Amino acid sequence: MRNITDVQWQALEEAARAASARAYCPYSRFPVGAAVLTADGSIAAGCNVENASFGLTSCAERNAIFRAVADGATSIIALVLYTPTPEPVAPCGACRQVIAEFGRDAHLRCICDGPGSIDCAAHELLPHGFTLAKPAQAP
Ligand code: THU
Repeated sequence: MRNITDVQWQALEEAARAASARAYCPYSRFPVGAAVLTADGSIAAGCNVENASFGLTSCAERNAIFRAVADGATSIIALVLYTPTPEPVAPCGACRQVIAEFGRDAHLRCICDGPGSIDCAAHELLPHGFTLAKPAQAP
């Protein structure tokens, strides 16, 4: 895991909390926010976006990562997940797979409305995760 400064953690936590306020979650009423730090030092945030066809819902973590990739990132070194809960909540399985795609060694921090938090490496949440060899050049 790469060293993350206190200032970067603070910025990530603020971005994740702010993103949750923009969640589109009329069905679950569970607003989630996430923020990722990319290898070049920039931060991208995302919130969960639900749909009347429930299975189309996209989680905050994936939306933050996809936003970072759309902005040019190729890897992430940290992700903060905020949930409005008294205890911290870890990312869902689908998000663990997407996080691992862009940062198996990324530092994850799950924060909530209480004092607790979860800190771990992405690979610890997805041991033996699925991978494919990447082609030398994108098509
Ligand atoms: N959700 C996330 O945004 N991230 C997770 O890791 C788990 C769940 C969202 C999806 C849905 O909008 C709501 O939380 C309730 O499941």
